[in-house]
This record gives sequence, structure tokens and C-alpha cells, in this order.
Amino acid sequence: MTVMKVYEYPHPILKKKAEKVEKVDDELRRLLDDMLETMYVEIGVGLAAPQVGISKRIVVIDAERDDEGKKPGNPLYLINPEIVEKSTEKVCGEEGCLSVPEQRAEVERFAWVKVRYLDYNGEPREMLADDFLAIVVQHELDHLDGILYIDRISRLKRSMLLKKLQKLREEKTESE
Ligand code: NI
Repeated sequence: MTVMKVYEYPHPILKKKAEKVEKVDDELRRLLDDMLETMYVEIGVGLAAPQVGISKRIVVIDAERDDEGKKPGNPLYLINPEIVEKSTEKVCGEEGCLSVPEQRAEVERFAWVKVRYLDYNGEPREMLADDFLAIVVQHELDHLDGILYIDRISRLKRSMLLKKLQKLREEKTESE
């Protein structure tokens, strides 16, 4: 398995609407394996294909890992995922993103969502996601439409967060 490069804000691929997968074959499964490996190495709970530079409607998620994120829990592969039903109730939770390193912010999401998708073998499936998984699913599916969680917070909070990100990058460049 290969660890892929994670693209960071403001790379244009992150703003692009990703394309539907036409065929679930071994090549696609290889990509899913590499994405999962990358997500584990980067200690994320979810990763969407645009984040590794591939504009396809694919997401990997593992919302059941241990605290350090080192042990795999229950990996999910979502191909062409679509939200087909959602709660009226909304919840607020803190989110972060591998494409917006070391930042976090409160985002409002639906409390639960029902998702239709193709699995690792290309079989159609439906899943009801609630609690933490619901938040991860909505965050990752947003990536497929070119939306980052920072697009869902207030302009003021976003500009503060981006300033901090900028500062962090400058510090990193200086120490290199
Ligand atoms: Ni993200």
C-alpha cells in the first residue's frame, strides 16, 4: 500500500465537484486501500479522494479507532455516496480536517443521515449514521462537492482560523 500526499487548503482540487465512479474494479480498490492507509498514517477519521488529488466520489472513514488513532477500528468505504434522508434536528461539534492542518472549529450538522452508496465490492448499500459517524459522513461527503468545513463557519471565524493556519505555515518554513 502507498501513502498518498494530502492536498491542503487552498489547493483548487479541494474546491472542485468530484466525478461519479463508473466501475468498481481492482484499480479502484487499490485506490481505496491507499486512501485508508494514508488516513491511518495521517491520523484522520475520514478521507475523501479529492484530498489526495483525485476528483472521484470516494470516501474512506474509520470513526471507531482508539484515542491515539493507531489501531484500525471499523473501516468504511463509500463509493458514490448520497444522503437520501436526514434528521430535522441539528447538532454542533468540533471538526478538523487533514487539508486544513492543526485547526478546529464548531460546525453545525444534521444529527443523523441515511446514506446510499456502493461498497468495496461495488454492492449497493444503505447506512444510517448517527452521533460522531454522522458528522464524519457529512464532512467527507462535503469534500466531494468541493466544500470544506471552514466554508460552513462564520466569515469572522474563518478569517481567524486561516490567519492561524498562515502563521503555522510561516513558522514551519522558518524552522526548515
Ligand atoms: Ni476534511
